[in-house]
Amino acid sequence: MELSAAPCDVGFIGLGVMGKNLTLNLADNGYRVAAFDLDPAKIAGVEAQDRAESGTVRVEGCPDIPAMLSRLSAPRLVVLSVPAGAPVDAVCEALLEAGIGPEDVVVDTGNSLWTDTVKREAHYRGRFHFFSTAVSGGEVGARFGPSLMPSGDPLAWARLAPLWQAIAAKVDPATGKPIERFEPGNPVTEGEPCAAYIGPAGAGHYVKMVHNGIEYADMQLICEAYHLLRSALGLSPAEIAAIFRRWNEGVLDSYLMDISAEVLETWDEQSDGPLVDVILDKAGQKGTGLWTAVSSLELGCPAPTIAQAVYARALSGQKSERVAAAEVLHGPESEPLTGEAADALIEQLHDALYCAKICAYAQGFQLMATAAQAQGWTLDFAAIARIWRAGCIIRAVFLHSIAEAYERDGNLANLLVDPFFTEQLHRYQGNWRRAVAQATLLGVPCGALSASLAYFDSYRLATLPANLLQGQRDFFGAHGFARIDAPESERFHVDWSAPARPVSRSQ
Ligand code: 6PG
Repeated sequence: MELSAAPCDVGFIGLGVMGKNLTLNLADNGYRVAAFDLDPAKIAGVEAQDRAESGTVRVEGCPDIPAMLSRLSAPRLVVLSVPAGAPVDAVCEALLEAGIGPEDVVVDTGNSLWTDTVKREAHYRGRFHFFSTAVSGGEVGARFGPSLMPSGDPLAWARLAPLWQAIAAKVDPATGKPIERFEPGNPVTEGEPCAAYIGPAGAGHYVKMVHNGIEYADMQLICEAYHLLRSALGLSPAEIAAIFRRWNEGVLDSYLMDISAEVLETWDEQSDGPLVDVILDKAGQKGTGLWTAVSSLELGCPAPTIAQAVYARALSGQKSERVAAAEVLHGPESEPLTGEAADALIEQLHDALYCAKICAYAQGFQLMATAAQAQGWTLDFAAIARIWRAGCIIRAVFLHSIAEAYERDGNLANLLVDPFFTEQLHRYQGNWRRAVAQATLLGVPCGALSASLAYFDSYRLATLPANLLQGQRDFFGAHGFARIDAPESERFHVDWSAPARPVSRSQ
């Protein structure tokens, strides 16, 4: 190991796929990294890749945490990329044992549960600065430009900001689109960095959690479009990929649409058929979509498209039951649509996907606003939309429109009532309804497309049938209700068993 006399700029613990790539990204941007992992092979791996790519030593492997700390000058900056949960606490304790101090900064970049981040910040306060940065973009993002959602002590952020702004994905300010260059040693240095301080401890991980909830919804919506094109029109994966590629040139232009086309185009040599046809239809999940749905239920802030996307993964997991049920339960008899009817459905589906996607993002942003209010955070939604325009998994052209909506009105009640999005929904809702109706008639499940539609239809109605619901609650539980012709704070109750059913003010 060639050790230079000069100290390193940053220590890095955890050299799995994300950690290794963040380390090399830091090195590409001129930072010298002291790196440690429990697995010596991973240390050797990152050192070898660094030398091969740069012809020099920018990443110094360290045999243990004390050795890594000794390569940093005070106040020290240590970044963690270890699995969420107990490993984060274990590394923090090891750092304390190795002499990390009150001026030092430790940054958790894992997919931690946001409440754990809040607890950790309080737990380690005074012993070191526990800071967090949620990272999106997968392994390629980590290597060449992720979207970064930092939160915690502003002093720690001041220290970290130059590094994060250097390694983050960049957006071309003229077009609002990502500037992408996936070349080792040649990082993108121009453009707007996708790294913005989110707020106090936990805020960044909450925002990343919602990013993932939206990611689940977006993925499920695309899968439902694929399913309908496949089942109703009998199109091949390659034909659907071509449609997705066309859609990817307009308002649906997004990373997820792009990779979906790529997956559908991929051929499997072993089966000599489309790869997608041999991938088992049981969806996995690590939990962030579930956390988002749970948070929406706890806060009473509806995110039905996101929740439906989690349910869809769960239902896909009941594979053996579905296989058995398919023998006994039948949907409507139908023939694949052809000709003009097929062309019409493709266009309807495009508009349905766009409108449903707007609703999924609206749910995510409203959830963040509700959580911010509950936690006392001040979130800049325009900035959040801007840092999601590049680097992250949900990067999409229309995030630029979301940023503009929140620039127009930072206190927007809901994205749906922004004039731009209102106009878009008015323009395309007809086709959205037709696509959902067609899928329903054909028996092709479209839970996320229709959850978005029901969300839109509920949100836009001044009167909902909750009046009847309140009547039901009062009938069996004497829960009382408010009247539209009296102050809302006044409660009324009906004696439902009395022949004349007198209404009284309840106690
Ligand atoms: C990202 C991704 C990343 C990961 C998620 C999703 O933003 O880079 O969201 O965090 O892919 O954990 O994983 P699951 O689909 O397994 O829940």
